[in-house]
Amino acid sequence: MSESIYGDYGQYLPLILQEVTDHIIEANKQVKEETGFKLYEHFISRVKAADSMAEKCQRKDLPVTAHSALKSIRDSIGIRIVCGFVDDIYKTVEIIRGIPGVSIYNEKDYIFNAKPNGYRSYHLILEMETDYPDVEGNARGKYFIEVQLRTIAQDSWASLEHQMKYKHDIKNPEMITKELKRCADELASCDLTMQTIRNLIQESSED
Ligand code: GTP
Ligand code: MG
Repeated sequence: MSESIYGDYGQYLPLILQEVTDHIIEANKQVKEETGFKLYEHFISRVKAADSMAEKCQRKDLPVTAHSALKSIRDSIGIRIVCGFVDDIYKTVEIIRGIPGVSIYNEKDYIFNAKPNGYRSYHLILEMETDYPDVEGNARGKYFIEVQLRTIAQDSWASLEHQMKYKHDIKNPEMITKELKRCADELASCDLTMQTIRNLIQESSED
């Protein structure tokens, strides 16, 4: 059996994921205590399996090394946060920005600027300073973490669209692509309405 693409650094990935997870779960608890509402409904995370990471490096014409896996590819650690409402996504992003040791390496707002296929989500690549060494020889190593934030509606759309990508024998793909786009836009409109209704309910209960 060959060694994992992550080499000695693989052992740190679950520990770093746990540290970030603890911060976000704690923030959700605090918001729930203060406001009665939770920031998000679901929190899903994973360390990318070594063999899928090796396959991704090959696909991107990168050498199959720990350096490629941890520095050129930036989703060895991945978190998906699924929120009830669009505003909660932006609130959660602000909380993530405040986690000690975290800086934002890259940020893409595919909610404000949806992809042409209709995909909507907020993507962050975090760079986190840690207590562990990294592949570049830093004692306080830096590790990347990919965070995807989306609403429940955007999440079910993304998994449906993802299913289509893996089926290569679909009849009438143009029609399905068009219907998916239409559906994404309808869901976005519903998300906006839901947000407006929630704001109305909150305003009227403050009287
Ligand atoms: P890589 O996936 O690492 O190649 O990232 P990228 O540079 O293309 O970045 P991007 O932020 O666009 O996508 C990162 C991840 O978001 C993807 O790996 C998917 O998990 C998800 N994603 C992006 N676009 C889509 C999409 O059109 N549909 C679905 N279902 N997921 C998407
Ligand atoms: Mg990815």
